[in-house]
Amino acid sequence: MTLANLPGSERHAAARAAAAEANDPAALLIADHEWLRLVVDELRPMSQQAGQFNALRDDILQLAAAIELHIRLEEDAFFPAIEPIIRKLGQGSTEDMYGEHDGIRIRIDELLRSFHLSGDVTHAYLNFVRSVVVHFDNEEELIFAKAHSVFARYRAQG
Ligand SMILES: [Fe+2]
Ligand SMILES: [Fe+2]
Repeated sequence: MTLANLPGSERHAAARAAAAEANDPAALLIADHEWLRLVVDELRPMSQQAGQFNALRDDILQLAAAIELHIRLEEDAFFPAIEPIIRKLGQGSTEDMYGEHDGIRIRIDELLRSFHLSGDVTHAYLNFVRSVVVHFDNEEELIFAKAHSVFARYRAQG
């Protein structure tokens, strides 16, 4: 399976394009979250059948690249731009998210390692999914909800 064939990829590409067109970076990142949530859910059954592990590993490599791109966009562009606003609002800091990104990277490494040496792929996959889903929930609750309304106000003011 290539990335373009992963579940929901067409809808994701359209949502991303619409967010870019609307100049709404928070909506673009949330579109990534929605798609990645869907993909990790759809791939879950493969993590429970040894006969599917090779195919799953290929998908995970694609997925890991997509997640890394998403993280780079947040750490290199979005978080530095939004950090002063989040701090001013007393919402904590985008810096809280960097450790969670590292946690996701560690879970991906563990998952990829589990395909060798008769590792526990099912367990490693669950840990990976948990780290991703918990992180997205935190990000949306702590950062994106605020960022979204602030950007909407800016746009309304022209
Ligand atoms: Fe993130
Ligand atoms: Fe994110």
